[in-house]
Amino acid sequence: MSNMAKLELDGNRYEIPTVTGSEGERAIALGSLRDATGYITLDEGYANTGSCQSAITFIDGERGILRYRGVPIEDLAEQSSFIETAYLIIYGNLPTRAQLRRFSELLTDNENLHEDMKYHFEGFPSTAHPMAILSAMINASSCFYPGLNGPRNPERFDIHAARLISQVRTIAAFSYRKSRGLPIIYPKRSYKYTANFLHMMFSDPYDDYELKPEVVKALDLIFLLHADHEQNCSTATVRMVASSQANLFACAAAGVCALWGPLHGGANQAVVEMLQEIHRSGDDGSRFVAAAKDKTSGKRLMGFGHRVYKQYDPRAKIIKRACDRLLDSMRIDDPLLDIAKHLEAAALQDPYFIERRLYPNVDFYSGIIMRAVGIPIEMFTVIFAIGRMPGWIANFKEIMDDPRSRIYRPRQLYTGPTARPYVPVDQRGT
Ligand code: CMC
Repeated sequence: MSNMAKLELDGNRYEIPTVTGSEGERAIALGSLRDATGYITLDEGYANTGSCQSAITFIDGERGILRYRGVPIEDLAEQSSFIETAYLIIYGNLPTRAQLRRFSELLTDNENLHEDMKYHFEGFPSTAHPMAILSAMINASSCFYPGLNGPRNPERFDIHAARLISQVRTIAAFSYRKSRGLPIIYPKRSYKYTANFLHMMFSDPYDDYELKPEVVKALDLIFLLHADHEQNCSTATVRMVASSQANLFACAAAGVCALWGPLHGGANQAVVEMLQEIHRSGDDGSRFVAAAKDKTSGKRLMGFGHRVYKQYDPRAKIIKRACDRLLDSMRIDDPLLDIAKHLEAAALQDPYFIERRLYPNVDFYSGIIMRAVGIPIEMFTVIFAIGRMPGWIANFKEIMDDPRSRIYRPRQLYTGPTARPYVPVDQRGT
């Protein structure tokens, strides 16, 4: 505790403690404000509310900085892998060789779904969105591990965390195969995480998918860049559910639902749909930029803007470079990439976007990489969810490990009718 904030309200003076984070960010600790003053704080959309103290991810939206456990995202993107980064995020430090080996073994040992889970896939129509299947199946798989609901202990946590990271990838690939009427492909023990995902997605029982290193690397990078992003909508949802002491799988299933929306993870699908629409209409992007500025059009420039970043999203910078690299090496000339670059250039010079400090976010270029990899558009948000699993697990763990954790229970300002009597139905008029 450092400074005290001073508040004058209804003629009374109050001193309110402040808290400073390890990067010098400051907060006014308002937890006892209502007891002291009778007032609650009101911050719709939580634009200025710190819901927790967390040691996992640091973002400085003004300067475009993102670090997992202190390590800059640029360094991880350059030198790490998704699985090593997942370990860092969940356990707090980069793993030693032995720790990484043990973690990888746990992932491999837990990659298969319970065989009965296959019957659950039968129940979904082929038109089901894979995010609906993913959320339902994560929740369903918790039924096969009764220990999940018991008292929490670290050893069990390690297994459940590995199981979730590993199985979410298997569920995702199975649901894609089912939706296409294709036979299910089981994971191979000898493949690493991302290669195994591509294998389960694209191999046939009689013909293995040819793994190209640049494709594996690009998809692994996409997972890594999505691995955590502090208190966004889905992570806050995971923490909310975890605070009631629900099990890890239930929390992750809730996170998937929150991530699905087009203002959050669903934006990567919405970006490519937007680029396709622009392409089909013969627009070079200019007409769309004009529509995105017109509040009556119902359109937004998807993949642009961020609640926290008032700068270029550092992940978008990395993805843009990776996108150029991958398309070059695969000799793909995707017209959507040209449109995206044109849109970006137009928006970055436009006073509307400049004044509101709207820049490309992580979703702006990621879809173009996924298209090149062959991931179907309806699976884009699933890829985001696979990537975000370590972040959700780390946030769950933070709540689980903190003896002071309390159930999340926001207050509200009631604006409905004041007390009125119940009127029997025959006295209510016609
Ligand atoms: N296109 C056009 N105008 C925009 C956009 C956009 N993409 N984003 C924000 N604005 C305008 C908005 O209309 C408002 O204008 P005004 O002040 O005149 O009313 C102003 O900018 C502030 O926007 P906001 O909606 O109050 O900002 P927010 O912090 O509540 O929303 C956002 C952030 C990401 C939801 C929003 O920028 C958006 O809808 N972007 C498009 C969807 C998207 O790309 N989402 C992915 C976010 S990053 C990854 C993730 O979180 O999953």
